[in-house]
Amino acid sequence: MDALAAEEIKTAYRDYTKPQRADAVDTVREFYRENHAKQTYAFVLEKKAQYLQFNRQTMTPWAALDFLNTLVDDSDPDIALPQIDHLVQTAEAMRANGEPEWMVLTGFIHDLGKVLCLFGEPQWAVVGDTFPTGCGYSDKNVYSEFFALNPDSKTPELQTKYGVYSANCGLENVHMSWGHDEYLYHMLQPYLPMEALYMIRFHSFYAWHKEHEYQHLCNAQDDAMKPWVQRFNPYDLYSKNPNRPKLEDVKPYYEDLLAKYLPGELKF
Ligand SMILES: [Fe+2]
Ligand SMILES: [Fe+2]
Repeated sequence: MDALAAEEIKTAYRDYTKPQRADAVDTVREFYRENHAKQTYAFVLEKKAQYLQFNRQTMTPWAALDFLNTLVDDSDPDIALPQIDHLVQTAEAMRANGEPEWMVLTGFIHDLGKVLCLFGEPQWAVVGDTFPTGCGYSDKNVYSEFFALNPDSKTPELQTKYGVYSANCGLENVHMSWGHDEYLYHMLQPYLPMEALYMIRFHSFYAWHKEHEYQHLCNAQDDAMKPWVQRFNPYDLYSKNPNRPKLEDVKPYYEDLLAKYLPGELKF
């Protein structure tokens, strides 16, 4: 494939008016209408209190990956592949490029938090781009017009530039919209390097890592970690192609990698 054709394919991803999935325009738009209307600051605090105790069940990472295969992500205009294939593609693209081992592992598990759907959470509370709650919205968020439907948009103290936060307080102190990113970050916090944890926690925060919004909430650590999140992103996006990789061929490698970094069972 020539470079121009490759570039056309790349820029075609995340085009919400011309999705790769034929059925997706209405599905994705409806998804963000609901997501932006219902992800309030109070909702995020409630979900954190509910899920970050990790007292639901224990599962091996493989059992969680198996579950993900039953899920099609409504927020994604580009992919209707089983989730495990997306994870294998992401990680294998990293491995082929010689990325560090901890990053390949991160690619392999970065969407594992989508098991929230297993616990009955609707997709608008699990997937999609994320955004800070408790402060004013950036119009660089996808489908930002739907924030008008969010009750927080009628609460003046939650709509100032800093809202409940202070200048350069650091993203670790910001309550992002709730979903698989934040959930998995907390679950894996003891086991992975900071670069990996930023990739997991902020990979859907496009308004930050792609549009460079919300810098007034960021501190020096966020600035230092941002290039790693940006380095992660193309693998997450452009490895989505319909040629299905074979998990069987690479499974022993990932079994070893999981065993090296993570405990045999994870607390969900
Ligand atoms: Fe994700
Ligand atoms: Fe992903």
